[in-house]
Amino acid sequence: MQNTAQNREEDELTALRRELLAAVESASDAAAVEDLRVTALGKKGRITDLMKTLGALPPDVRKARGAALNVLKDEVAAALEAKKKTLAVAALESRIASERIDVTLAPRPMPEGRIHPISQTVDEIVNIFGAMGFSVARGPDIESDHMNFTMLNIPPDHPARDMQSTFYLPQTGEHPTILRTQTSPVQIRTMMKRKPPIRIIAPGRTYRCDYDMTHTPMFHQVEGLVIDEATHMGHLKGCLMDFLRAFFGIKDLPVRFRPSYFPFTEPSAEVDIGCSRKGGELKLGAGGDWLEILGCGMVHPNVLRNCGLDPEVYQGFAFGMGIERIAMLKYGIPDLRTFFEADLRWLKHYGFAALDIPNVALRG
Ligand code: DAH
Repeated sequence: MQNTAQNREEDELTALRRELLAAVESASDAAAVEDLRVTALGKKGRITDLMKTLGALPPDVRKARGAALNVLKDEVAAALEAKKKTLAVAALESRIASERIDVTLAPRPMPEGRIHPISQTVDEIVNIFGAMGFSVARGPDIESDHMNFTMLNIPPDHPARDMQSTFYLPQTGEHPTILRTQTSPVQIRTMMKRKPPIRIIAPGRTYRCDYDMTHTPMFHQVEGLVIDEATHMGHLKGCLMDFLRAFFGIKDLPVRFRPSYFPFTEPSAEVDIGCSRKGGELKLGAGGDWLEILGCGMVHPNVLRNCGLDPEVYQGFAFGMGIERIAMLKYGIPDLRTFFEADLRWLKHYGFAALDIPNVALRG
């Protein structure tokens, strides 16, 4: 009778052993192994529960039963431990396999960005004038007509003030608001902000109501301004000749100063560079023909006065030129409108590699 009961209990343990070891065997990750450990050996685990029943058994049965339970407990604990290690090794191996870098694989080509010819040209201009001691000044694209025209001695009936030539915006302040038609208001802003000596260039966007082969509603200019107590027309000529020869990379580039008129300079001049148009092909350099390139002059006493500078003490020169125009000439770009069509094929052809940029001497 007792034997039968003992045998039944042994069978029970054998079944439990088979069940637990099979569960351990099929556990697929560390969490499952841990769950099994708790179910079998935890405080309320199945083996632990069986251990707790030992106290109620008669001493001779308890001994054999206790020994069997201990064997089972150790066996299950060892199986859990072994499974844990196997799973850890497998996890590491799969990580190593998935993170392997195949160094024999050819690199994917990086898409190569290009520098827009306007950016390149501005960098070149800044570089050349930077070397002559100019710093870069900037002003807002949205200006008052006061800064853009009145302060620059441009009379109220000047055609540039016409609605057809200038973008007027809803007025926000004391004066009509416009998109600046020239970078010249940066001259005013600079002279109102600081005392001479002044030596700045101001590259930036400008806007006019124009659109054809040689005009776009938005384009770029660079303004120049030098004010101190001794700068004269000779400096103006030397400075611009040096710039044009450096920019176009032609040492003996012919440069001609022609008398002209601008409201904000007196005297005023337009500057031409030498070229040849033989056979319909434009070539910069000596050749007997001329190409207009920029406007300049000695700053008008009224402009100095408008900015609170005494024209009896201070004087200097200013100039302004179109950046697209000189970029087109230097790099042989035939149509102005293409600058702003954002055509990547165009940019690939006319653009510059990042490392082509000359050292940009931005001084403030
Ligand atoms: N602002 C003029 C224009 O847009 C260009 C210009 C001419 C600027 C003569 C100057 C200058 O500073 O002195 O046509």
